[in-house]
Amino acid sequence: MHTFQFGSSKEEVLLAIPERKIKKLAAGEKRLAILRIGEVLHIFDVQCPHRGADLGQANINGAGEIICPLHQYRFDLKTGDVRSGYCSALPVYRNELSDSGLTIYLP
Ligand code: FES
Repeated sequence: MHTFQFGSSKEEVLLAIPERKIKKLAAGEKRLAILRIGEVLHIFDVQCPHRGADLGQANINGAGEIICPLHQYRFDLKTGDVRSGYCSALPVYRNELSDSGLTIYLP
């Protein structure tokens, strides 16, 4: 496992990632999507595990699900589990927001 650091303070991270707007981030070779709800950040692969659609264009519903824009498969925002559709789970990444910024834990 390795870590990727984004920003150098909590305030910087909160300003850089508008609430409820999916933002894309390159973490080394990985392409990630970040969604912020309040001070909770959800980080997941930017490519849908079904056919690779861009989840930067996904919608989020009130049940805490990411909805892929291509075939509308739904994934649990916290676990990445498939809630609707037939494919593997969406990889989601543990992260920690602190006074020194956002730390993302990558496998
Ligand atoms: S590419 Fe995402 S549901 Fe098919």
